[in-house]
Amino acid sequence: MSALLQSRASGVHRRKVALLGTGTVGTALLARWARLQRASSLGDFDLQEVRNTRLRWKSAAGLDAAALVATAPAPAREDAFDAPALGEGGIVIDATASDDTAAQHAAWLAAGLHVVTANKSGIGGEFARYRAITRHSDRYGDSATVGAGLPLLRSLRELRAGGDEVIAIAGVLSGSLAWLFHAYDGMRPFSALVREAGRLGYTEPDARLDLSGEDVRRKLLILARAAGSPLEPAQVVVESLVPSPLGALSRRDVDAGLHLLDTPLRERFQAAHRLGRRLRFIARFDAQGARIGLEAMAPDDPLALGGGCDNRVAIWSSRYRERPLVIQGPGAGAEVTAAALLDDALRLTRRA
Ligand SMILES: NC(=O)c1ccc[n+]([C@@H]2O[C@H](COP(=O)([O-])OP(=O)(O)OC[C@H]3O[C@@H](n4cnc5c(N)ncnc54)[C@H](OP(=O)(O)O)[C@@H]3O)[C@@H](O)[C@H]2O)c1
Repeated sequence: MSALLQSRASGVHRRKVALLGTGTVGTALLARWARLQRASSLGDFDLQEVRNTRLRWKSAAGLDAAALVATAPAPAREDAFDAPALGEGGIVIDATASDDTAAQHAAWLAAGLHVVTANKSGIGGEFARYRAITRHSDRYGDSATVGAGLPLLRSLRELRAGGDEVIAIAGVLSGSLAWLFHAYDGMRPFSALVREAGRLGYTEPDARLDLSGEDVRRKLLILARAAGSPLEPAQVVVESLVPSPLGALSRRDVDAGLHLLDTPLRERFQAAHRLGRRLRFIARFDAQGARIGLEAMAPDDPLALGGGCDNRVAIWSSRYRERPLVIQGPGAGAEVTAAALLDDALRLTRRA
């Protein structure tokens, strides 16, 4: 029995965990943590630290996730985050979208920690960063980065482990763009739908981040790399939906400029409609390369089906050569993302 298992069995070892980010996902994670803890499903995890850019909560005795707001925070600038202080085997949960935290993933892993992340800037950034992180893939949980825990990365890795070559991947990878193009019927202005999606919490506060396709670029990079490609961000051709004048506006003026989307998208819709086709924002990776943009699809195409904010991904491989493996389901949302993060933490440490 290893020293870690012995100490666990004797109840001495508690695995120390830090959560970075208390936004939509971080808050859902704390709620799920509290539920699992009440049901004794969290085993030997101790929540030592929770931080955002402004505040940090810290307790060597372990924080109560259910009552965090009742615990007095300190300003985050008082002390920088010290991941190695969690000790070997500790877990950093990254529920931020910060490039600064993603830049630390490889160092935290090299220090013997586990990293569990919804932040795509780690393995969805430059290939060198991806390579440094995946040297420690047995301690890296990334299933929340694409499809919010849908079995996408797992399936690609298992196909390759089983000897399959992944020939192509195509999919709807953005929940917000899926919702927008399901809802768009060419009658209501597209800008009105973007505002509605914002009210429903489906888009980023600045919807240009969704409409530019940059978030999808990171997701496609993550999938393509899981399929074995050393793709760099600049090799993905992205067709942004944001017209240049809208892109040039300050954040404060975006809402007033959203009408700039209406004419170009109505024209695209009408051209597709005349052919009996449906517009979908599709990411593709195959022997021709990687590209992302709006496509007019046959209504019975698997990628044109589904509803709501669903992600849908088709995978062609040696065994799925004629008809692809299609994986579909809710690919965004705080609850499923938080569940994917905690699932990863439990899975990685169960086998450690
Ligand atoms: N929302 C979803 O449905 C969803 C689904 C899948 C994946 N994701 C991914 O999950 C991540 C979090 O998404 P979200 O919707 O929860 O974002 P969010 O609501 O904007 O929250 C982000 C949080 O990260 C904190 N933060 C930023 N930089 C930090 C740093 N250097 N150290 C510590 N905390 C830092 C922010 O602090 P402040 O509070 O001080 O600003 C904020 O609390 C993103 O990478 C997103 O792409 C989200």
